[in-house]
Amino acid sequence: MKALVADRSIVSRLSNYSCGHPSGDGVKIQTIPVPEILANEILVRVRSVALNPTDFKHIDIVSPRGAIIGCDYSGTVARALYMEDSTPTAVLLVEYLKIPGDLAWKVPSSVSDEEAATFGVSAVTAMLALNARLGVPWLDSGKSQGQEDTPIFIYSGSTAAGLYSIQLAKLAGLKVVTTASPKSHDLVKEYGADDVFDYRSPTAAEDIIRAYPNIDRALDCFSEGTSTEFCANVVRRNRGWVVTLLDSGKKDLDGVRVDFMLAYSVFNAEFQWLPPVGPKFHKVPSDNDALRRFYAALPEIALKLKTPPLKNIDGGLENLTTGLDLLRQGKVSGTKLVATVF
Ligand SMILES: NC(=O)c1ccc[n+]([C@@H]2O[C@H](COP(=O)([O-])OP(=O)(O)OC[C@H]3O[C@@H](n4cnc5c(N)ncnc54)[C@H](OP(=O)(O)O)[C@@H]3O)[C@@H](O)[C@H]2O)c1
Repeated sequence: MKALVADRSIVSRLSNYSCGHPSGDGVKIQTIPVPEILANEILVRVRSVALNPTDFKHIDIVSPRGAIIGCDYSGTVARALYMEDSTPTAVLLVEYLKIPGDLAWKVPSSVSDEEAATFGVSAVTAMLALNARLGVPWLDSGKSQGQEDTPIFIYSGSTAAGLYSIQLAKLAGLKVVTTASPKSHDLVKEYGADDVFDYRSPTAAEDIIRAYPNIDRALDCFSEGTSTEFCANVVRRNRGWVVTLLDSGKKDLDGVRVDFMLAYSVFNAEFQWLPPVGPKFHKVPSDNDALRRFYAALPEIALKLKTPPLKNIDGGLENLTTGLDLLRQGKVSGTKLVATVF
């Protein structure tokens, strides 16, 4: 089968990490064996994929030469082995992939393949940050009453993670306050935001604090530049809590707790970022439980959630690098890039 594989040396990845100007695609299409499945695993024939910033970050910095690139997919079950003892594994931008059977979800007929592919990284990140970290009620818990006046702050609501987060928080009954560029204000409102502020306004944080003095939880869906300080300012008077999606190395910002999360923790496996020199991450079994819970409920929940607006990239596997480059250049706004590849 064909797969998109990483093709940068460690020297080039370290250079990209320190000066951030990668050249070339950094990937190639390679023919590799179809994976063998183990007990309780499913072999999936991939049909559609969705692209994420993490994909180009793997290509440019994280992944060693030959690593298979990609996270989000939908497809059909080609083969399944139901027995005791399964071994978790990764999901990939390839023709076939294998996954533990209970980390798959059955896509309702009203959800297209492209839409289904977006319920990976972005939706799982929203779930993990809000439900598993920040204590937002799970949608399957039925606890959505009595929270209408409880605000939560989502920085950069027009990101793909932000659009899912807005919906999960809103469906849980919270008042959702967010930031976005003015061009994306209508978009975030369509997805359920109660109020939206322009993060470029010099008074935005003060305006939010004045309007919502009791906000004590924030999810930073951008996590670059001063976004985490912005979030910390918004929740500081309530000695609040900020979850970030990129690691600033800071655990506390003047009395505000800051927690970095990496959604790969859902796979219940140890992993390392930029091996062999980067930080190592431990297993987090409770995050794996959270993913199983989310995917068990997803066939129903997916009917209540809108995917981010989709933009289809034509041209199959060969053209995915075009989409990855748009993400790399920060040219994707309020949109999820998807492709039907096989
Ligand atoms: N830790 C994890 O597990 C995890 C999981 C998922 C994503 N992430 C990371 O989280 C980030 C968002 O991912 P995504 O896929 O949701 O993003 P995305 O959809 O590609 O984000 C695009 C959005 O970024 C916003 N943006 C661009 N520049 C900005 C700025 N200076 N300040 C605020 N917002 C800005 C734009 O909003 P406007 O158009 O409104 O300006 C645009 O809509 C990425 O860095 C990704 O790698 C981490």
